[in-house]
Amino acid sequence: MEILKPVDLVGDEVKWLDTRFIPWEEIWRKTKDYRRLAQAIKDMEIRGAPAIGVAAAFGMALAALHYPGKDLEGLMKELREAKEVLAKTRPTAVNLFWALDRVMKKAEEVAREKGDAEEVKQAVVEEAKAIQREDIEMNMKMGKIGAKLVEHGDTILTHCNTGSLATAGYGTALGVIRAAWEEGKEVKVIATETRPVDQGARLTVWELKRDGIPVKLISDTMVGYVMSKGLVDKVFLGADRILLSGHFANKIGTYQIAIMAKYHNVPFYTVAPTSTIDPKTTLDQLVIEQRKPDEVRTCPYPYQKVYVTVPDVEVLNPAFDITPPELVTAIVTEKGIAYPPYWVSLRKILGLD
Ligand code: MRU
Repeated sequence: MEILKPVDLVGDEVKWLDTRFIPWEEIWRKTKDYRRLAQAIKDMEIRGAPAIGVAAAFGMALAALHYPGKDLEGLMKELREAKEVLAKTRPTAVNLFWALDRVMKKAEEVAREKGDAEEVKQAVVEEAKAIQREDIEMNMKMGKIGAKLVEHGDTILTHCNTGSLATAGYGTALGVIRAAWEEGKEVKVIATETRPVDQGARLTVWELKRDGIPVKLISDTMVGYVMSKGLVDKVFLGADRILLSGHFANKIGTYQIAIMAKYHNVPFYTVAPTSTIDPKTTLDQLVIEQRKPDEVRTCPYPYQKVYVTVPDVEVLNPAFDITPPELVTAIVTEKGIAYPPYWVSLRKILGLD
């Protein structure tokens, strides 16, 4: 199975697949300007927690590569500025902040030790590339670990898009499904549409069809019914930020799926790399992104604005919700599977004890 890398640093440019146009058209964009890349994250040309982390790291690489001067002080100022711009794009997925902090820390370390702008530029590029490489490695590992929870013949319900298009490549929850399939387990997938942006209908279906993995699409409103009919064996989905308490933020709609899974005794798993676990933020500090009202008022068709309602209706548009730990059967990471109580198992996985 060939791994699609939706965002990549090629020479001194970043290129990415504009996911707003999937499945209609495969449009690859490129830039040398970190501000343009920040806009691409904000507008969801690039989306999915690990993918925006990788893109933000590449944004730092662009800032370094295209800083015109040779002075260390100016370069560090430029990197701090880029970090600030990139950090303002999307607030919920922790991978973005994790990647920015990691690259900045590396730059500061090299600046202190070598005191040379050229060395710092190189180190920033290397660190960004390492983040991309490691994300794919983590996904492959999680895939193998998570596939142990999948049985031959399982029908798996998934939400949003957690595949190559949401990561550096391969995917988190979709990585588990891919790994199980590659092991020869005949799994079937039920993908939710995932309104308002339709990541399930547009992106997950597109990815699974490319791989030849059987998929059926349902609207978000059908989850309860299909579970009540015994059509779902397991739920696997991703996360944007996991707190040490086990609460996790993920695409809007996750919480209601978790409640329905609990009611119908369907195991509910979230799959995420350790870069998605946030040891610092508490539940009351967790910021849920509120997006533009027109996402809800219109259908996500990038060529034409089609209103599905009265155009001036007031709207609520939280992009994520929070699922409490008591609804989660287990959390799959590249370092192993965490089971309740999560405030013990997640600390262990992060090596905090
Ligand atoms: O708003 P999006 O499309 O960036 O939201 C993506 C999700 O919520 C995914 O489920 C999450 O990032 C995990 S993807 C590996």
